[in-house]
Amino acid sequence: MFRTITTLVATAALSAMLVTGTALAGGPVTIKFSHVVAENTPKGQMANKFKDLVGERLSGKYKVEVFPNSQLFGDNKVLEAMLLGDVHMAAPALSKFSRYTKKLQIFDLPFLFKDMAAVEKFQNSDKGDELLGSLERMGLVGLGYLHNGLKQLTSSQPLVVPADAKGLKFRIMSSNVLAAQFKAIKATPLKKPFSEVFTLLQTRAIDGQENTWSNIYSKKFFEVQPYITETNHGLLDYMVVTSKEFWMSVDTADREIIKKALDEAIVFGNKVAAKKAMDDRQKIVDSKRCKIIILNDAQRNQWVEVMKPVWQEFEKQIGKDMIDAAYKSNM
Ligand code: LMR
Repeated sequence: MFRTITTLVATAALSAMLVTGTALAGGPVTIKFSHVVAENTPKGQMANKFKDLVGERLSGKYKVEVFPNSQLFGDNKVLEAMLLGDVHMAAPALSKFSRYTKKLQIFDLPFLFKDMAAVEKFQNSDKGDELLGSLERMGLVGLGYLHNGLKQLTSSQPLVVPADAKGLKFRIMSSNVLAAQFKAIKATPLKKPFSEVFTLLQTRAIDGQENTWSNIYSKKFFEVQPYITETNHGLLDYMVVTSKEFWMSVDTADREIIKKALDEAIVFGNKVAAKKAMDDRQKIVDSKRCKIIILNDAQRNQWVEVMKPVWQEFEKQIGKDMIDAAYKSNM
């Protein structure tokens, strides 16, 4: 694996030269931004805002083309494609980087953050910055974090206590922490691309999945899952990334303009995320298509108790200092 990625990094250098070549040839350089969600989501709207801002500020020099809904690449391929120069920017969920770094696994630890304010505090800290740089040696540059929100469990049967999930199959993102989390409740985790989730649920090939209100609503998972348990048990946030070679091929002044446009788009996207977490939840309630299970403290504590030992399992890979710092962001 390491060799494959190293080869990709070398090939990226060549691709970046080709991109720069396009600029020299006269036309605007196209920055391809690939993502897997619908346009009407925090990430979709952030990407479109970024496109508009770059269009306004670097017209004729750079233009952003956004490919939503896994049209160009799914998250399992996009980083390889980026290192090959076939796409320039993406914002995969933090759960999807484990082939490149184990450090970002911290964001998958169940019940680590009590709310999005704690997540924000941690991401903005020195440790958050350190994690943003954790992809560097693989030829990728972390440009910023973007929120989606806290995850809920959707299922074909009511999940009130962890024992209710025993033996059920859940789709997860490609993360070993998430696999361990579902194994802790004696369920079977299946790593599947986001683009397949609706069909897997609809055909009952799987029993459930975990996701944010925005993704459950925009991808219509609530139409094929009769129950949602409001657990807020984990985080689904993103890292906006580009390849080092592409990034360094952009001249310094333009790079600053692009970065500023991205920072502004992220601020906008985070506002969308906060609003959607409430609005999309309400739309699901209003649809009356599924029952939302609200846990009392004793029930919620059961989920915490069963899932929390996962922290220990990944402590070595992530670093205890990192976990402690993230935990302190709740205070
Ligand atoms: C998922 O695969 O469930 C999410 O990562 C999709 C996304 O990008 O929000």
